[in-house]
Amino acid sequence: MVTGGASGIGEAIAKLFYEHGAKVVVADVQDELGNSVCKDLGGSSNSIFIHCDVTNEDHVQEAVDRTITTFGKLDIMICNAGISDETKPRIIDNTKADFERVLRFNVTGVFLSMKHAARVMVPMHSGCIISTSSVIGLENEELDKAMSATGNLKGATLRVDDVAKAAQFLASDDAQYISGHNLFIDGGFTVCNPGLGMFKHPEC
Ligand SMILES: NC(=O)c1ccc[n+]([C@@H]2O[C@H](COP(=O)([O-])OP(=O)(O)OC[C@H]3O[C@@H](n4cnc5c(N)ncnc54)[C@H](O)[C@@H]3O)[C@@H](O)[C@H]2O)c1
Repeated sequence: MVTGGASGIGEAIAKLFYEHGAKVVVADVQDELGNSVCKDLGGSSNSIFIHCDVTNEDHVQEAVDRTITTFGKLDIMICNAGISDETKPRIIDNTKADFERVLRFNVTGVFLSMKHAARVMVPMHSGCIISTSSVIGLENEELDKAMSATGNLKGATLRVDDVAKAAQFLASDDAQYISGHNLFIDGGFTVCNPGLGMFKHPEC
């Protein structure tokens, strides 16, 4: 199951996993886009769209239950649904409502997705849960350029497939002894740590 699978990174993950033989559940609030992703996958019975708002526990519970009913089990949960609001670096410019909205989507939504995946995975003694999060939201070209310029992989720009391929590895048997790992897919942005310029290598 890929939450937020109707577009962007989630869509890329849904497509890549499907290409590698996974049965895919696209769980998203964008019904038209979500259905169209499943149609692009060939419209077969091996991919379904489920309307699911990850901030609503009933939706998440029902989506997981429907996955079990349809495909028999849930092997991989990708908690990817999320939002990035307008960046307001000064705390005083942020409202409580802004703050709570981001927490609701990006924290509570992930918690509920993990919880209901675990609910069906624990009795099976198997399963994999992967969550995407953000070092910096790259929702516009300006930030994209800033991230590429600050990382140490000069000339490399982030593509949704870079994230999808990393998720594919983490979900695969090759990563069977990896757990609780934070994998940064950021072109070296974090290691060059722009917030601590004093540690920056001159060539970074
Ligand atoms: N794009 C980036 O550079 C970047 C970087 C770091 C992390 N991320 C994270 O990766 C995830 C996906 O990012 P993206 O760039 O593909 O974004 P995107 O906006 O293209 O896709 C997000 C998807 O989540 C869905 N969604 C939003 N709220 C939802 C909800 N309540 N319930 C279910 N679905 C919901 C949207 O409909 C959309 O299909 C996000 O969590 C984001 O924070 C993105």
